[in-house]
Amino acid sequence: MRTVKTDYIVVGSGIAGLMTGLLLGNTGEVIILTKSREEASNSFRAQGGIAAAVGEGDSPELHREDTLRTGVQHCDPTSVDVLVNMAPKTIQLLTELGAKFDRDGEQWALGREGSHSASRILHAEGDATGAAITRALLRQVAKRPHVHLISHTMVVDLVVSGGECVGVIAADAEAGETLYLARGVVLATGGCGQVYRYTTNDLVSTGDGFAMARRAGVPLMDMEFVQFHPTALAVEQNPMFLVSEAVRGEGATLINDRGEAFMQRYHTWGDLAPRDEVSRAIYSEMQQGRRVFLDAGVIGERFARRFPTIHRYCQTHGIDPASDPIPVTPAAHFIMGGIRTDSYGQTRLSRLFACGEVACTGVHGANRLASNSLLEGAVFSQRVAERMAHLPPREKEPVQVPHVELYTNRKQLDQWKDRIRTIMWVKAGIVRTAQGLAEGLNALREMENEVPVFAWECRNMITVSQAIMQSALWRQESRGGHYRADFPETLEEWAKKHRVV
Ligand code: SIN
Repeated sequence: MRTVKTDYIVVGSGIAGLMTGLLLGNTGEVIILTKSREEASNSFRAQGGIAAAVGEGDSPELHREDTLRTGVQHCDPTSVDVLVNMAPKTIQLLTELGAKFDRDGEQWALGREGSHSASRILHAEGDATGAAITRALLRQVAKRPHVHLISHTMVVDLVVSGGECVGVIAADAEAGETLYLARGVVLATGGCGQVYRYTTNDLVSTGDGFAMARRAGVPLMDMEFVQFHPTALAVEQNPMFLVSEAVRGEGATLINDRGEAFMQRYHTWGDLAPRDEVSRAIYSEMQQGRRVFLDAGVIGERFARRFPTIHRYCQTHGIDPASDPIPVTPAAHFIMGGIRTDSYGQTRLSRLFACGEVACTGVHGANRLASNSLLEGAVFSQRVAERMAHLPPREKEPVQVPHVELYTNRKQLDQWKDRIRTIMWVKAGIVRTAQGLAEGLNALREMENEVPVFAWECRNMITVSQAIMQSALWRQESRGGHYRADFPETLEEWAKKHRVV
């Protein structure tokens, strides 16, 4: 097997991976491995923006309160403090790295999103914030001689030796298998939205990092908490196109097909209620046979300037968002759980770190506050890089490395993925029950016997789906992104109880 030695390995090329890689490049040689194109990530797709208390009258304290309230008494307060306190400096750092956030004259142009008590969402190129930041970071990577980005290379497993993570095995359809050895590895592989039939997540989000960690015996936590974004454009495709929450922040209203603005019936914050509440309200309307739309008429002619990407995309589907109601539907968007880490991204396995969506520092609790995800990636990557910079070199070489292959029957892979996605949407979606979850787990068990070990993405999707379902079955209450029709109340005794799988 080909062997490559370096100082640090980063897996993933979203905001968390690129930032960690760039910062580690100040200390040693870095290889960033990413399984598809370098731009294929949920970070790149992020529209709304990045939250930071930089506006007049705002403060990290208010940002903290909003994050904790939205997380429904389930957040780790230490991680939340890190996030909100580092946010303003992180915006400065991103700016220095070339991200150009939109301005209103001398001031930042700040948007509003659900469950925020202030306008604190920075955005770039209107509604292309993730793309603007990611491109800026990729430009920096290209300039750094010590940071090497290798695309179209799938990391399939971690290599553990003597109780430490010493590297990863990657497989490439053409180059075959490669063993990468390093003094430290960071997983920044993003989320797992692709386990659901309807998702805003990029095709690459098959939960590889969660599954690799689990295979190596590294615990996952809080996996039952999945966030469904209320307003994906109701045009069936994979991934679904997102209509940013920032559109409601600019005054757009959810209406049903009777023309009723229904959100006030469900929550006192109306259209700017937390995402889980809005998604369930839409789900409830749909269960009553109604269709749901976003009425952005109030934004009018400004729409095209403020939301150029959404405007263009709607137009390709014959919708003029300035005047036509935009059909919307909830779709899986983010997972609050992940690989359990401390607030420096250290996992239970020595020399293995995680940051971004794949990690669970507890910062989001049971439900993530809008636009705290790009922020999470940018903040915790700095902490991870700080810790990893002090890792001593490895002393021993790994003893044995298993042979790996890539299963390549694309048609068969797509069929398996489709089956998993349907099971998860029906049995572990917006509304769950014990019976549905048990049925879902049985269906996944059958698939486990069918899908070969080298069909890595499918195996990873099964592993992550099982973790979500097992955790969802265990939690006999409803909280944030986890709703059980058979246990609809939020119960005090379940607050801060974490399921580790
Ligand atoms: C959005 O623009 O609505 C999504 C932003 C986020 O996921 O926080």
